Amino acid sequence: MNGDVGETLLRCVSCGGEYKPSPRLFRCPRCGGLLEVVLGNLTWSPRGKGVWRYRGLLPQTKASPVTMGEGSTPLIASRLHKGLYYKFEGSNPTGSFKDRGMTVATTIALDNGARSVIAASTGNTASSMAAYASRAGLRPVIFLPRNKVAKGKILQSIAYGAVIVWVEGSFDDAISLAMKLSEEKQSYYPMNSFNPWRLEGQKTLYYEVFEDLGKAPDAMVYPVGNAGNISAGWKAAQELLMLGVADEAPRFLGVQAKGASPIADAVSRGLDKPVFVDRPETAASAIRIGKPVNWQKALKAIRESNGTAVMVSDEEIIQAQRTLARREGIIVEPASAASYAGYLRMLEEGLIDRGDTVVLVLTGHGLKDPASLESMVSNEIIVKPSVDIDELDRTLRAI
Ligand code: F0G
Repeated sequence: MNGDVGETLLRCVSCGGEYKPSPRLFRCPRCGGLLEVVLGNLTWSPRGKGVWRYRGLLPQTKASPVTMGEGSTPLIASRLHKGLYYKFEGSNPTGSFKDRGMTVATTIALDNGARSVIAASTGNTASSMAAYASRAGLRPVIFLPRNKVAKGKILQSIAYGAVIVWVEGSFDDAISLAMKLSEEKQSYYPMNSFNPWRLEGQKTLYYEVFEDLGKAPDAMVYPVGNAGNISAGWKAAQELLMLGVADEAPRFLGVQAKGASPIADAVSRGLDKPVFVDRPETAASAIRIGKPVNWQKALKAIRESNGTAVMVSDEEIIQAQRTLARREGIIVEPASAASYAGYLRMLEEGLIDRGDTVVLVLTGHGLKDPASLESMVSNEIIVKPSVDIDELDRTLRAI
């Protein structure tokens, strides 16, 4: 099935201005708004595995894809709730959904002749970018908020050889600095999600859900930080409708942590523009973001899909993380557990019906944030190899 054949464009989500793509164009020259990619030729012809299975719905690149087989992640049926599925993005090569965008953005960076790539990050974008950049022979420079990134993600980025700039401030400070550097010094190619080419890769998560279920689910639930992923999902769902591949699109539901919830707040108060949070705070460090770059796209996704957004407390997030590990066998980081906490809250508030087909996007692997697992109650004993077997048995039964 083919859409209209035409030229690929960048379109401003604020004023609708349309522009021919060029390597350094990331903001609307007229109004400064965010841009989205409008592909000239959309083809639904899935072939092969992973992100590049959907090549017909991705930008054409001259360079061959920088890939590690990202995507094709499992859709796991819940044992606790009827109709509920988990899309486990922790099984990507660097342990988060970011790899879907990075395979595309890194390939485009090569097309554009980039040498250094930069991104600000709460951790996952950084480690993903570092991995793909190293593989492509590009120099990764990452901007991290000091003392605010989970250990596993820092070690991953170091291992992949990233240059780290520790910013004494929040993620929002780090991204403003990275944006300024890439605007003023053209030798740094930006890989944050205001780069609309990266979000094209992130659309593939939804295509996989659609193919695995054989239909659109009733709802997709995303933890929302910088708000790129939920926006990419909605773009994907609209494309499948437009091509006549799907008859329906799901509702897009966002979850934020209390203390870092400008989008959920804007939705619940019916605001056109969020009130940004100066000092975002939550245990879910990946989504500790007060000024989401993609807020316009995310509000559009939520409102046009008849969705909504809720906020959950850190206690609800930690409880959700525990339940997923102990009752479903899935370890996720706190930001990802927010989608399950949000699901429970939305069920309770009647925003989702019991039995609806709902997909929770579990964005990142729990092993990335070992400190978040330290509060789990452990059942353990220490024994000598010569321990008496009857005594060992008695002790184990008593635990
Ligand atoms: N879950 C995890 C594990 C994340 O790392 C992020 C974002 C999100 C959810 C939210 O996705 O930003 O598209 O709304 N992490 C970014 C980073 C900000 O730097 O790794 P989003």
